[in-house]
Amino acid sequence: MTDTTATTTRVVLPGVVPPSGLLIEQVATPEPRAGELLVTVEATGISFAEQAMRRGRYPGQPAFPFTPGYDLVGTVSAVGPGGDRTLVGRRVASLTKTGGWATQAVVRERDSVVVPDGVAAEDAETVTVNGVTAWQMLHRSARVRPGGTVLVFGANGGVGGVLIQLALHHGVRVVAAASPRHHDVLRRAGAEPVDHADPDLAARVRELAPGGVDAVFDNIGGEVTRTAWTTLAPGGTLVAYAIASATGGTGSIWPPFLRQLVRIGAWSVLPNGRRATFYDLWSGHLRTPRRFRARLEHDLGQVLELVRDGVVAANVAARFPLEAVVEALELAESRTLAGKVVLVP
Ligand SMILES: NC(=O)c1ccc[n+]([C@@H]2O[C@H](COP(=O)([O-])OP(=O)(O)OC[C@H]3O[C@@H](n4cnc5c(N)ncnc54)[C@H](OP(=O)(O)O)[C@@H]3O)[C@@H](O)[C@H]2O)c1
Repeated sequence: MTDTTATTTRVVLPGVVPPSGLLIEQVATPEPRAGELLVTVEATGISFAEQAMRRGRYPGQPAFPFTPGYDLVGTVSAVGPGGDRTLVGRRVASLTKTGGWATQAVVRERDSVVVPDGVAAEDAETVTVNGVTAWQMLHRSARVRPGGTVLVFGANGGVGGVLIQLALHHGVRVVAAASPRHHDVLRRAGAEPVDHADPDLAARVRELAPGGVDAVFDNIGGEVTRTAWTTLAPGGTLVAYAIASATGGTGSIWPPFLRQLVRIGAWSVLPNGRRATFYDLWSGHLRTPRRFRARLEHDLGQVLELVRDGVVAANVAARFPLEAVVEALELAESRTLAGKVVLVP
């Protein structure tokens, strides 16, 4: 039994264009193959990844044209041959990397997790890629213990907002690096803000944490990564996970990205009493698929339960219908928001 609409509306990114260059097209609804689900999308989101892909500055993005959308939440309307038919009618949260900005989408069953009853689709959306990234960086990469202190860059962003809440819930103190215009929101969230552009940022962090911090989460790269490294306490961990500072440039993103990987790799092997790692959400997706799946199910499941229980607040910065994707992307790129812009097809 399938409950699908024959036509799907989807957004297309045709090349390196301003947000106004996005296209909306109608196509025949795709059929799920073995291992896939067809999902009627209830909510999908705009993350920094799509903003980087629009500029052609996301490492490993597909060739243009393609439909953006790193994650989605929706109801399963059909399963591929041999799939779990009990999933039909269930609400799932799926990692897609691309393809989410559509009314219906085919997703991989193993990259999808059932959303607990009581969690609204758009709330689940804000913690899908953001939540699994934040949870894994905190508990798998950095393994910070209760009583510790962390420094979070991009603190007002989608990942940063979930990371702060998970850390505070775990009994960890949070120093939040962001532009001053976001500091009031961060204080209200229970974090201690510092200006990420302060030329004496390391000194400001030392004033708050004289012994250094136990972990730094760095999405900025470049000089920020060097500064971040100096704020670590002995035994502390630098978790780098993006190079947002390089996204605004031109040309290939690979040279600055590879420089960052080499630097993190060198720090990780040098005997310097600290650890450095580059977190990649997709690590093991192809090489160790069972482990990837088990971790996704557990880690995203934990975050979704915390949302259901009111411990983690879903941070919807704004919501738009799919047809208003241009306005939605322009707002997301304005850098004025705290939280995530959600598209509700
Ligand atoms: N490695 C992985 O597996 C993985 C997984 C998920 C996400 N990510 C990456 O994580 C990053 C955050 O994602 P998100 O969706 O949370 O992004 P987001 O909501 O757009 O937030 C981005 C944050 O970074 C700050 N920022 C952006 N450009 C900056 C710059 N040039 N200098 C200083 N701060 C800057 C923003 O601050 P303002 O608002 O003040 O500009 C904002 O706090 C992205 O780069 C994304 O690609 C990586």
